[in-house]
Amino acid sequence: MSKRFSLILSLLLIFCCAIFGVAQTNKDAEGHAWWQHAVFYEIYPRSFADSNNDGIGDLKGITSKMAYLHDLGVDAIWISPCFPSPQVDFGYDVSDYENIDPMYGTLADFDRMVAEGKKHGVRIILDFVVNHTSDQHKWFVDSKSSRTAPHRDWFIWRDGKGLGQPPNNWISTFGGSAWKFDSTTNQYYYHYFYTEQPDLNWRNPAVEKAMLDTTRWWYKRGVSGFRLDAVDTLFEDPNLPDNPVLPGVNKQGDPNTDEKYNKKLPEVHDVLKKLRSVADEAGAVLIGETWTANIDELKQYYGEHDNELQMPMDFMFTTVDKLSPPEFRRQIAAVDSAGGWPVYVISNHDKVRSFNRYGDGKNNDAIARMMGAFYLTLRGSPIMYYGEEIAMENNDPKRKEDVKDPIGRTGWPNEIGRDGERTPMQWNTDTNAGFSRKDPWLPVPASYKTHNVATESKDPNSVLNMYKKVLALRHSNQALLEGSYTALNQDDANVMSYLRSYKGKAVLVALNMSSSPQKATFNLADKGFASASLKTLVATPQSSAKGSEVTLEPFGVVIAEVGK
Ligand code: NOJ
Ligand code: CA
Repeated sequence: MSKRFSLILSLLLIFCCAIFGVAQTNKDAEGHAWWQHAVFYEIYPRSFADSNNDGIGDLKGITSKMAYLHDLGVDAIWISPCFPSPQVDFGYDVSDYENIDPMYGTLADFDRMVAEGKKHGVRIILDFVVNHTSDQHKWFVDSKSSRTAPHRDWFIWRDGKGLGQPPNNWISTFGGSAWKFDSTTNQYYYHYFYTEQPDLNWRNPAVEKAMLDTTRWWYKRGVSGFRLDAVDTLFEDPNLPDNPVLPGVNKQGDPNTDEKYNKKLPEVHDVLKKLRSVADEAGAVLIGETWTANIDELKQYYGEHDNELQMPMDFMFTTVDKLSPPEFRRQIAAVDSAGGWPVYVISNHDKVRSFNRYGDGKNNDAIARMMGAFYLTLRGSPIMYYGEEIAMENNDPKRKEDVKDPIGRTGWPNEIGRDGERTPMQWNTDTNAGFSRKDPWLPVPASYKTHNVATESKDPNSVLNMYKKVLALRHSNQALLEGSYTALNQDDANVMSYLRSYKGKAVLVALNMSSSPQKATFNLADKGFASASLKTLVATPQSSAKGSEVTLEPFGVVIAEVGK
């Protein structure tokens, strides 16, 4: 290639990147960035590891577990909010975006955590609560002090419709009207979540600037990206029309409404593009809490020119909630068709743990092993939830007076809150599962005696060792890292199977989603493997592959290399 031609080509590439907002980050030969090879792991910091034995997890605790995370096969941790907060919504009410809550440590502890993570190949992703602050944040304190305060327009203030009448019928997702009257200035402020979580006014350029600067500040401190909280709720129709009322009431007893005027407004995408261009400067990833109702919505979150979220979380997958190969096939095909990089999640701090959701009450461990082998071998980036790898179960409160999550108290017993999925990580058989010497903020379930890291580490067939084996394979096998996804035997109602292929090599995954033994035979001739002979890479004890046939115990797993 002549020097002149290659110069023109480089200029053209730079031009395209500038036009389409494509990140000029390090990519592999397939054009994949670091986050496409990464396994993510959500940590709820109150509940992971308690270094000072006050019953609440902290950053030093997380730092002390970096070797564990590395050995497990985790490349990046997303830490739920650890910023200063009155903890009304356990950190999702932020009172200072650029500091660490003293209960979790200090900025120096944060820096040490980043450094220790670097040593172990574990990146840090923070949780950016973009829609709202705490009512104790200095911006809101100033905003509510007078109608002419410098930060007045940083939040959404309106007159009521009349005496005791809020501006419209919008409902807070946590219960009651989304408007709270404030007698200091005789106006209402808007809060989609708790009253202590006033919504920021993203139509004010000063808000946008402050928030973008916050991300820059953390990138400089070594953060590799953000999980963006509740992005659907960033904008509201400024004319405040009433939302259409639907039949019935929700779990908090409020009328159901179609939230068409205060959710998923198109302006959200302008903000995401701006956050993305700052992220691109830092080679960072943006993960979105995106409650997409269909594939069109998912597509929009990637951005028309891959210029919004690299990783919109696909919660549609979690709504399958039953072991149904046809349903999973449908979801995977749909997500693949969106054209972006898929993201798979089966648990998080707002959802009943996957152990309970998929479990049948008898074979829960086997099902947990199988579900891990499933979503960790799909094409895309998985986001695990702490404790999922040891098959932690929900430990739901039995009495209203024990509930810590406010929505569980106001909605009891229809809504019991989210405490059950947020209990302390189970490290060993010591008191409080080795999480803390003091009674933790939430109780551990009795099953910690068998389901904990120390005990499961010693059992080759434990859920933990299955996760480790699958993750080790995922990191070393190019078909699993880079390969395409092809569904196999699509008429099989019990065995979920698929091929991951890359440059003439392939890995076949077969998962028995039923409680009876199954066999499956594969004809891979049209996939380029005329006489396929399967060689087992990872399998559950009573499951195996021979020739082109797989034998599976109930909820059994076979991951096999396809030989020619
Ligand atoms: C979504 C978070 O995941 C949830 O835990 C929180 O309560 C709301 N956003 C409000 O920030
Ligand atoms: Ca602590």
